[in-house]
Amino acid sequence: MPPNDLLVRLEHVGIAVRDASVTLGVYEALFGLRPYKVEEVSSEGVRTYFLDAGSTKLELLEANDPESALGRHLATRGQGLHHLAFQVPDVDAAHARLESAGFRPLGPVKEGADAKRIFFVHPKDTAGVLVELCSDRSP
Ligand code: CO
Repeated sequence: MPPNDLLVRLEHVGIAVRDASVTLGVYEALFGLRPYKVEEVSSEGVRTYFLDAGSTKLELLEANDPESALGRHLATRGQGLHHLAFQVPDVDAAHARLESAGFRPLGPVKEGADAKRIFFVHPKDTAGVLVELCSDRSP
């Protein structure tokens, strides 16, 4: 199967924010958008806010813990675009395929927000963009 067959769509755009209430105000002023879901991912030390942006979603990421990966990212690089998340049919197969192709997944497949199973690929392997791959968690 050609690799392109694995891509379903751009699932969401992740944006790191220092204070979600400020950024939520920006998107409400821009587009009248409000979050349809707020979810803690305690294992990652983040709180996520999801906005419906039509053909994709925005995931605002706020650090609960300054020592989390996101907290350190905010401290060193500031807020802004954080990652692109691509939906695939089988995130476990994608992890194995990309690892054998020489990409460096940032850890194993794990539970993410919004009922997804996810992993990230090192941005040095993906033209400087942190890429998330995700599949729907099976019921
Ligand atoms: Co994400």
